[in-house]
Amino acid sequence: MRRIAVLPGDGIGKEVVEASMGVLDAVAENSSFAFSAEYFDAGAERYLSDGSTIHDDELRALSASDAVFLGALGDPRVKPGVLEKGVLIRIRTHLGTYINLRPVRMRPGLCPLRDPRHFDLDFIRENSEDFYMGLGLEADGPGAFGLGSVRDNARIDISMDFSVEPVQPFGFEVGIITRSGAERFADYAFSVARDKGRDKVTLVDKANVCTGIYGLQRKVFEAKSEEYGIDLEYMYVDAMAMALVRAPQRFGVVALPNLFGDVLTDLGAELQGGLGVSPSANVRPGGTGMFEPVHGSAPDIAGKGLANPFAAILAAAMMLSDIGFREEADRVSDAVDACISKGRTTPDLGGKLSTSEAGKAVADEVRASK
Ligand code: NAD
Ligand code: IPM
Ligand code: MN
Repeated sequence: MRRIAVLPGDGIGKEVVEASMGVLDAVAENSSFAFSAEYFDAGAERYLSDGSTIHDDELRALSASDAVFLGALGDPRVKPGVLEKGVLIRIRTHLGTYINLRPVRMRPGLCPLRDPRHFDLDFIRENSEDFYMGLGLEADGPGAFGLGSVRDNARIDISMDFSVEPVQPFGFEVGIITRSGAERFADYAFSVARDKGRDKVTLVDKANVCTGIYGLQRKVFEAKSEEYGIDLEYMYVDAMAMALVRAPQRFGVVALPNLFGDVLTDLGAELQGGLGVSPSANVRPGGTGMFEPVHGSAPDIAGKGLANPFAAILAAAMMLSDIGFREEADRVSDAVDACISKGRTTPDLGGKLSTSEAGKAVADEVRASK
């Protein structure tokens, strides 16, 4: 019996999670997979009613479960960052999931490129450092600012003291990469390359400007490249944006620091048919993972039954694989493929189904696959 913590969150997060849970029920009906779900209602409604985000006892419950399944966070009624950082990033940090896996593969008929060649990319996004350390402030008056963060054995303290008002209000954000953070990231990327028989890892950065963080990261990746006997290729993030559109088939394992990883995985999503079919897994070897679609709460379509649940369902498949049910995971992802090829999809993929109908279509395929 696997214990799954479920956070539907906001907007379409709730809709796609509901559809996905129906698919997990279908899996459990005809396999050895059995699960219990514990629901958590962190998100906009709670925040608007009592001003809280996620509670410490909830975080403890998440790490005590076998997996966390999440919809999306974010609501136009709440200031940007409150829910995204207060719930989503907080969970990633609490679980210590320092890797975010975002697979992107050529899906026949869904790639927007002209004459696409087959591609199969493993985007490996670093998930804990870079500009996501939470070391930032809007400094718009006199005062002292002390910010601290601990990563492994490195304690980082930043303090600023303004006895007078700053010359002009300003904001700052600090990006940090530690050696140990870069090492575990590189280890993960090269292990994936080794396990998949890839001959190179592509590291995306901006080492020509942000020399401090990405210079260190390059040194670490170079050493790991030697250690694993696998080539290392560098791409600047601007050129990578171009190359991914021009010839995605050139790449395999793509390692991305946190912020560029966020940006380019939405581009990657579009290459395989959009955010509606793009899942992600926040993982740490040996730890509880958190599985979610790449997309957000999509307030523009929330509550209308228009959201494509396939991304969340594919995230559920990644979760099944992570907790030891590989065959079941394959059945779920094959079921999604079958729905796509039969046109049993939501409007973003050209179909006529609602979110819940598309979820049921996948569940039916799962049932039929036994
Ligand atoms: P978004 O991913 O929510 O939506 C971008 C566009 O893609 C929208 O037009 C939306 O309608 C469409 N889209 C997204 N998912 C879809 C799906 N499953 N089916 C069909 N269409 C889909 O990004 P955004 O609009 O920039 O952000 C909205 C909110 O979500 C913000 O508050 C943002 O901070 C938050 N967000 C949260 C997460 C997360 O929780 N992991 C991720 C990204 C954004
Ligand atoms: C994502 C999202 C999050 C991120 C936001 C909502 C904090 O965009 O999961 O891609 O930047 O990681
Ligand atoms: Mn994103």
